[in-house]
Amino acid sequence: MIALPRLQTPIFLAPMAGGFNTPELVAAVANAGGVGSFGFAYSSPEAIDRSLVVASTQTTGLINANFFVFPEVAAPQPDRVAAALQALNAILPHGLLDESVLIPPYVPDLATQLEPVWQRRPAMVTFHFGIPPIALIEQAHALGITVGITATCVAEATQIAAAGADFVVAQGWEAGGHRGCFDTTEMDQEQDLLALVQAMAKHISLPIVAAGGLMTGGDIATVLSAGATAAQLGTAFLCCPEANASASHRALLLAKEPRDTVFTSAFSGRSARGIQNRFIDVMRGKELLEFPLQNSLTAALRQWALQHENAEFQSVWAGSRYRDIRPLPAARLMQILNGEIKVALSE
Ligand SMILES: Cc1cc2nc3c(=O)[nH]c(=O)nc-3n(C[C@H](O)[C@H](O)[C@H](O)COP(=O)(O)O)c2cc1C
Repeated sequence: MIALPRLQTPIFLAPMAGGFNTPELVAAVANAGGVGSFGFAYSSPEAIDRSLVVASTQTTGLINANFFVFPEVAAPQPDRVAAALQALNAILPHGLLDESVLIPPYVPDLATQLEPVWQRRPAMVTFHFGIPPIALIEQAHALGITVGITATCVAEATQIAAAGADFVVAQGWEAGGHRGCFDTTEMDQEQDLLALVQAMAKHISLPIVAAGGLMTGGDIATVLSAGATAAQLGTAFLCCPEANASASHRALLLAKEPRDTVFTSAFSGRSARGIQNRFIDVMRGKELLEFPLQNSLTAALRQWALQHENAEFQSVWAGSRYRDIRPLPAARLMQILNGEIKVALSE
């Protein structure tokens, strides 16, 4: 086990796969004393290397490289693929989607994705959806890289501690994006962040980084007082000019008449929280492939929606508190959050 590096400020930019976290956003947060995370879940080793190199020209601060621990995926049954495609193509009659995107082994190879990380050595590496092979945790430690893993309940946090990780990212029910549960066949405990942090602080001795619905320094101070070492914020940064969110994604996040957030598996095959849109509504009860095959199947649709700035068919991931987003440059947002934390902790 190695210690979490000393943080000048207890704020992590959440990793957000899909290119939201540009090197500029990562560097701005790291330069402000926080941890700048990349969401590399679906990225190629070349892209990962490029992002780490570009960020390192803009900051000497703390950088975190985040990955998914993908499940092993068996070849899907043709009748299920046909049904899933039929459901999707009924929405958009563009003949856009077909099964040619389902190519074995269906998931990126984690060991290959990590090669540039071993070479560039960011301060931290974190994992979502489970515990990676222990050899990879050991490799990180051998290079002085701190390892964190997402937990959505105390049982997962206990397994993370036993695996030799250095900190736990406690993901509350409020969080935007995918739930990081290890086993999708087990009941999700659906725990709110504050209760989760309090329960984890009682049961494990690892540092806790709290994530989910944190938008202000006051929110951050609350989880710090409950036992967290730091807070991880995703949605709060999505409307920073440095973030790579589409104009239509931003428009929904900042809408005068905000919609609800809901959980859906329709985009990827796994449950994730986002702003309700037409795709989510229409796909209710329809045939879906398992994660991440459904993600591969919907990729062209999401790409089309992005190109046409049509948020009704994009995955507009957002946490439950997205209405409190402040669309500011990341450095200014960090400054405000830090000021608010100080005020809240001195009260
Ligand atoms: C757009 C988006 C993408 C996300 N992608 C990832 C990811 O790739 N890896 C990860 O560990 N967490 C991911 N998350 C979850 C965040 O780590 C974190 O739990 C969440 O942002 C916290 O809730 P908040 O969005 O309300 O701040 C994502 C969240 C969002 C909003």
